[in-house]
Amino acid sequence: MNKCWWKEAVIYQIYPRSFMDSNGDGIGDLKGITQKLDYLKELGVDAVWLSPFYKSPNDDNGYDISDYRGIMEEFGTMEDFDEMQREMHKRGIRLIVDLVVNHSSDEHPWFVESRKSKDNPYRDYYIWRDGKNGQAPNNWTSHFSGSAWEYDEATDQYYLHLFSKKQPDLNWENPVVRREVYDIMNFWVDKGADGFRLDVASMYSKRPGLPDGDPGRAEIGSEHYQNGPRIHEFFHEMYDNVMAKHPGLMTVGETSGVTIEEAKKYAGLDTHEMSMVFQFEHVKLEYINGDKFNLRHVPLSEFKAVMSKWQTELDGKAWNSLYLANHDQPRSVSRWGDDTKYRKESAKMLYTMLMTMQGTPYVYQGEEIGMTNVHFDSIEDYQDIQIRNAWRARVENGGEDPEKMMQAIWYIGRDNARTPMQWDASPCAGFSTAAPWLKVNPNYKEINVKEALEDPDSIFWYMKELIRLRHESETAVYGDFTEYQKENEALYVYNRSLGDDNLLVVLNFTGEEQPFVLPRPMRGKTSALYVSNYENDGQMADRTLRPYEAAVYRWKETDK
Ligand code: NOJ
Repeated sequence: MNKCWWKEAVIYQIYPRSFMDSNGDGIGDLKGITQKLDYLKELGVDAVWLSPFYKSPNDDNGYDISDYRGIMEEFGTMEDFDEMQREMHKRGIRLIVDLVVNHSSDEHPWFVESRKSKDNPYRDYYIWRDGKNGQAPNNWTSHFSGSAWEYDEATDQYYLHLFSKKQPDLNWENPVVRREVYDIMNFWVDKGADGFRLDVASMYSKRPGLPDGDPGRAEIGSEHYQNGPRIHEFFHEMYDNVMAKHPGLMTVGETSGVTIEEAKKYAGLDTHEMSMVFQFEHVKLEYINGDKFNLRHVPLSEFKAVMSKWQTELDGKAWNSLYLANHDQPRSVSRWGDDTKYRKESAKMLYTMLMTMQGTPYVYQGEEIGMTNVHFDSIEDYQDIQIRNAWRARVENGGEDPEKMMQAIWYIGRDNARTPMQWDASPCAGFSTAAPWLKVNPNYKEINVKEALEDPDSIFWYMKELIRLRHESETAVYGDFTEYQKENEALYVYNRSLGDDNLLVVLNFTGEEQPFVLPRPMRGKTSALYVSNYENDGQMADRTLRPYEAAVYRWKETDK
């Protein structure tokens, strides 16, 4: 089974800007996190993945770093970081920090130097090219709209930026850059970090020559930099220089565009690259032709096929991570559940799925109380650079229908996940005493932590129970996975099995009652209840499932 702590852990993601503001400036901070650690301890999580807290001009909320060893002033000081980490460790909570090294900020001293002249010692830290016939060097587009190249007058060349023009891509071909990265990693490990989440880890290696991409794709050029030619060599080198020196260090790569075959290399049980990957297939299913703001309805069978494929194909070969939401994704209950009538039932059902699959589950802040998407009327209320740039490019300059675009933003936009954490029903949801940097979701009076803690039937207490059970059940963590009734468009039914111990998971993905027929291998077996979001006597049987019902039964092969 290749057991280790990060396979058995449940990880909670904090987006510090939106978690808790301790000093009344409307922006979350490190002291705010420290104040809420008892809350996380109560929930029972094992580790926190903390989104970037480093010095940054905040063009992309900290994913544009200008000092990899400094703390963002709005978030506090290095002393605040040390205290936060100490308090986490005191409570047995590990800390995973975010490593953003596909690019830096254009305000990082490396780039400030690099852009000065062609013979500057830092020139080769970034990717500079001559234009072609007065145009960008190739047709690649940025993930934040427009060309991936920015012209810089000082040296009459272009630099590459796969994200905003304030996020120039670092040149991983340069061994000195890679050395710098490993030094940064060792700096944070020496400070006590227990692992890294590796931002856009699949994109470090660009195909030499930087050829034009297929113009038919939504992200033009991505076939030349996702899982690029040297990517595994780079991760082997990182492993040897960092991970190998610190046994137990956890790494999770954000690997957009990763296939099963690639995942087996990145996160193989003995490939020595990273601990696990975030795959993207289930969160890109709605995109028509890969276009995030052009969406379709996805039949349940398609969603199930993707989830099940990652379960069965990595089993025994590589390690999965499991997520339904993060700071780049909308709220899971709004996306796959029902965020009105059956909000509680459907949120519980979705996390029953997450916590009964093989892999390491991640819970993004606010998911444990069933926070929902937000519908701001005005584009001005959105802060996310991806939303703002896409609006400008598509609606203001591209003539697209503003209503259709707004619908897409309401469904998929990143700010859905970034509205401040809803702690209580007081003004600003207990997040801050000042107007927050991004407006609070108006439903904070009904949906908040205080309410959840007072309600024994809340999503919070159910999540806590799921986490507790996860810690108790090796079958939930390591068991193999068999799906039943694959064509069923209402139910997701699967069994997890480890030796003699089995968990049958039955999930109703609809707001209607649904007939359930017990699969043949479980017929005649006795069972006990593992968990359910409704009253349940624990005996597996043919029956009618209630709206968004989740039922997990524990049974043994040898039982009559
Ligand atoms: C992925 C991060 O999760 C996202 O928030 C960011 O905008 C991009 N990488 C660029 O760093």
